[in-house]
Amino acid sequence: MATNVLKVNNLKVAYGGIQAVKGISLDVNEGELVTLIGANGAGKTTTLKAITGTLPQCKVEGEMHYLGQHTKGHTSFSLVKQKLAMVPEGRGVFTRMSIQENLLMGAYTREDKAGIAADIDKWFGVFPRLKERAAQMAGTLSGGEQQMLAMARALMSHPKLLLLDEPSMGLSPIMVEKIFEVIRNVSAQGITILLVEQNAKLALEAAHRAYVMDSGLVTMSGKASDMLDDPKVKAAYLGE
Ligand SMILES: Nc1ncnc2c1ncn2[C@@H]1O[C@H](COP(=O)(O)OP(=O)(O)OP(=O)(O)O)[C@@H](O)[C@H]1O
Ligand SMILES: [Mg+2]
Repeated sequence: MATNVLKVNNLKVAYGGIQAVKGISLDVNEGELVTLIGANGAGKTTTLKAITGTLPQCKVEGEMHYLGQHTKGHTSFSLVKQKLAMVPEGRGVFTRMSIQENLLMGAYTREDKAGIAADIDKWFGVFPRLKERAAQMAGTLSGGEQQMLAMARALMSHPKLLLLDEPSMGLSPIMVEKIFEVIRNVSAQGITILLVEQNAKLALEAAHRAYVMDSGLVTMSGKASDMLDDPKVKAAYLGE
């Protein structure tokens, strides 16, 4: 029986009078790579923010469980301590810090110095571009490199669940391929991932399972490989 890492039940989020998420349910099991795809404005980012408790001004209804615990009222800091990490849209690296310093910031909830150093080495192995530039200021990195740094920084917190919001956005095709290579690599290491993407084809090729969101609702869900063959998904999201 698969262990549930995240369970969202009938989540509703309203920004003032606008109902952005209208009652969605989804779950992510240990070791899975699950993708959430859908058009602009479907409510994907809002869903991730609700999961991390970073929507203080909004009306959030429904049930969310992370590692079996109710998440309502948790601050994002306490969620990081509980090994839930999010790489937001637009990345948010510390631009005036070096790569090395950004990675150390990612480990701020940890106290195992030797483990932190070993992890930096490990992720430099996965992201060789970052290793070559360890002393470079993050603000001077290319968009793709900043995305890699944001992911490596999140991984430094030893997440049990990694939430990625549109990691391929704004990147060149070659960089997009590289980012997906890294996502596959991280997933193969057993880290559970919930991936929000507009690049539905690459996301479905990488993921085990998928949810499609449209106008605040989950309209389809299932095995990612089945969705790649689904005529409705092909027409609406794969441009085929
Ligand atoms: N702070 C906010 N105040 C008011 N409305 C908001 C706010 N943030 C998002 N919305 C609205 O909620 C809806 C869902 O937005 P959300 O950012 O979750 O979509 P998304 O699926 O992530 O889209 P994209 O693919 O463009 O990133 C949109 O209609 C958006 O305009
Ligand atoms: Mg979004």
